[in-house]
Amino acid sequence: MCGIVGYIGNKNCVPILINGLKRLEYRGYDSAGIGILQDQKSLVIKNKGKVTLLEERIQNLNLISNVGIAHTRWATHGIPNELNAHPHSNHDGTLFIIHNGIIENFLVLKKNLLNQGYRFNSETDSEVLVHLIDSFIKEGNDLTKSVQLALNEVAGTYGLAVIYSGEPDKIVAARKGSPLVVGLGENENFIASDVSAILSHTKQVVYLEDGEVAVITKNSFNAKTIYNKEIEKEVHEITLTLEEIDKGGYPHFMLKEIMEQPETVRNSLRGRIVLDEGTSKLGGLIDVIDRLINAKRIIITACGTSWHAGLVGEYMIEQFCRIPTEVEYASEFRYRNPIVNKEDAILFISQSGETADTLAALQEAKMKGALVLGICNVVGSSIARETNSGVYTHAGPEIGVASTKAFTSQLVVLALISLLIARRKNMSLVDGKALAEEILAIPDKIESILKLNDKIEQIAEEFKNAKNFLYLGRGYNFPVALEGALKLKEISYIHAEGYPAAEMKHGPIALIDENMPAIFIAPKDSTYEKIISNIQEVKARGGRIIAIANEDDNEIDKLVDFSIKIPQTIRMLMPILTVIPLQLLAYHIAVKKGLNVDQPRNLAKSVTVE
Ligand code: M6R
Repeated sequence: MCGIVGYIGNKNCVPILINGLKRLEYRGYDSAGIGILQDQKSLVIKNKGKVTLLEERIQNLNLISNVGIAHTRWATHGIPNELNAHPHSNHDGTLFIIHNGIIENFLVLKKNLLNQGYRFNSETDSEVLVHLIDSFIKEGNDLTKSVQLALNEVAGTYGLAVIYSGEPDKIVAARKGSPLVVGLGENENFIASDVSAILSHTKQVVYLEDGEVAVITKNSFNAKTIYNKEIEKEVHEITLTLEEIDKGGYPHFMLKEIMEQPETVRNSLRGRIVLDEGTSKLGGLIDVIDRLINAKRIIITACGTSWHAGLVGEYMIEQFCRIPTEVEYASEFRYRNPIVNKEDAILFISQSGETADTLAALQEAKMKGALVLGICNVVGSSIARETNSGVYTHAGPEIGVASTKAFTSQLVVLALISLLIARRKNMSLVDGKALAEEILAIPDKIESILKLNDKIEQIAEEFKNAKNFLYLGRGYNFPVALEGALKLKEISYIHAEGYPAAEMKHGPIALIDENMPAIFIAPKDSTYEKIISNIQEVKARGGRIIAIANEDDNEIDKLVDFSIKIPQTIRMLMPILTVIPLQLLAYHIAVKKGLNVDQPRNLAKSVTVE
């Protein structure tokens, strides 16, 4: 959840660390800190608030050092303040640590350390780590050994980096359940929770696995397990460019990410449609395709927006592949001892590939012997690596906390998987070709919807002061109603609910009056007539209505206050189009309210804690 960056080499680490933190701020941004070794002495500076505040504080201090670590925090234990910010130091300030994750047994560890005379300055779970490591150093162990011994006593998750003035030539880092990558340079090496922090310095990286400890000096890197077993690590070349990560001229990442969806969907499709055969080609499923086709049941597990994509996936798979499919929140799946058989295939959908609940659900499913498959965006992420096989969405880095382009790419991948299975089961060549052609036409249709941006901004102006919103859709567009409501609430802090439109009369209709705007997702499909009846019901009660409708639907304008017209496609692909105006509407409302759309309050991009 938080961001970690570390440097050791010949250069001054301070600007490198600050720039790295700025790239990591999307992971957490309630406090920031830096720890360096300067003339054999250690120095820690930290504060509540954003990285720019930290930068301002250290600007005139003339800090110069060749080794340091830095952290941007998203609070779990202890409020965001200077004391709870990282790095945390030992008593004499010779040792300091930055940590992502949660130490579950910190209370027990803390009690033991208190008994040994250690005093604590913060309310965090992380602080136990620094004192625990310190206690092993005091017993005569070197830094690496002390980190290993400490981690053997720890239950929970960590991505951490430690510096010790007694051994100033190294950074020791370790990972369990929280991503960590080592960057390899010329006479310099890096550590980071995310490649974006170090990409401007190196493209050669090593991904740490759970239970691994890395020792980094300016000229060397080696990895061991926490039980001191040597391990060989593979070096990966990163293909991502910094330009792909930057805002590209847009005021916010979220808008950039909404606007680049024609391209990101093209990227998700690239090389994956075999038009002549009316099917798709997904390299990541080759080894498991027979098991997948013969699965007795498919379970889709995810959180948040990825869970909404899963709901659409359920409709797709049941309609085209005729395999019973269930969708479950990963957080529920992991704790309720679900019935999982070896003949089940379980799909884990995650943009980041690091979501703690989804990862834990995956481990549970794996343990029970099911076929586990990932649909992830971040290449090399934990979920991508822990699944037997899977499909990358290739949407590129998503920085805005509100997920947009990752969602549409997840839907595209689910459509490709459905096409692949359906063609291997009972879909005809003619139907397969027709579906493949419709999928290929999607990027151009998204492009035409994005041209409505100005109109959607005007609608946002009209509704920006609303206190509540209702989002209503049926069939494939019910999950889109949920997704539209989630987008609005997470960035504009307006209360919003998504419902299947027909459910309205079972309760939510009581809320309708002139202060409750209702957004109907009403493309012309088999449920259109019924949706029109629902619109009439809201109209009759004075509700103001925005409709997402098809371009050739002139009738709907007589019933609604505002309409946003989108191109037609087949039912299964409609959510990829209907969600775009809802993303833009949420974005513009939040901007008009003067809110930070890329970093909404209380949220972080990748939720690596429970
Ligand atoms: O990285 P993941 O797809 O696993 O993340 C899951 C959710 O945390 C995420 O979709 C969250 O709901 C977003 N903020 C939604 O915009």
